[in-house]
Amino acid sequence: MSTYVSTARPRSSAARLPKTIALSAVLLVAAWFVYVYVFPYYFHYNPAQYGVYWLRRGGLLLHISGGMVALLIGPWQFSQRLRQRHLQVHRVMGRVYLVAIACGATGAFYMGCTTFFGWGWGTSLVILALAWATTAGMAFYAIKQRQIQIHQEWMIRSYVVTFAFVTFRFLNDMGPTSHLQPHLVRSITFVWVSWVVPLVVAEVILQLRSIRSLTRVPRQAKLS
Ligand code: HEM
Repeated sequence: MSTYVSTARPRSSAARLPKTIALSAVLLVAAWFVYVYVFPYYFHYNPAQYGVYWLRRGGLLLHISGGMVALLIGPWQFSQRLRQRHLQVHRVMGRVYLVAIACGATGAFYMGCTTFFGWGWGTSLVILALAWATTAGMAFYAIKQRQIQIHQEWMIRSYVVTFAFVTFRFLNDMGPTSHLQPHLVRSITFVWVSWVVPLVVAEVILQLRSIRSLTRVPRQAKLS
């Protein structure tokens, strides 16, 4: 894990293009998820829409409202342009993101502990809720210690976990993987896959970046 303060230099618009496209795509998918899976609970506030969640609707609304805000705010926090030009906006959105995750994870913890779909499903979601709170908490602690680089790394991990439920819905509800049986085994497996696999991929990329930046220094020193 790197422990230095960020040395990131402003990059040209062309160099930023792939990142801008990736963040826009993530934002679009997040907006689609909110429209399809979250809005119905606001627009149809009745037992038919809520089904098994009706008795626990307070917990569900706390959870989905926090999750929705975190999902839609997250991508903006990775914009270097926003950080450089409007640092105050970045800070305010960062606080909103953290409060949203506190609400979303509290609701998820409650929903996971009281689920009607068995202990395997409940455990997978309770642990995901803990990972959600932990990664956001680490990002917050790092920035409080003014460790910008470490803060950025934990924000990446945090958003990967925030996005897990969207990844889960893709795997569970769409394409060939949605036909796998038995149904509950499929759902539990995909909850784990939806955050463990992206988190390992993100970790490899972060550590490669870190190794490269550390090995670049002696080479530059040799040249001078
Ligand atoms: C990443 C951590 C998350 C965890 C641990 C989690 C956990 C849960 C749990 C435990 C339930 C109830 C399941 C049951 O009672 O069996 C649930 C339902 C739901 N969650 Fe999350 N969730 C997470 C992220 C999100 C996010 C970011 C959103 C976006 C708004 C979201 C939207 C929903 C919706 C719409 C439902 C209702 C039912 C469904 O569509 O499956 N969740 N979640």
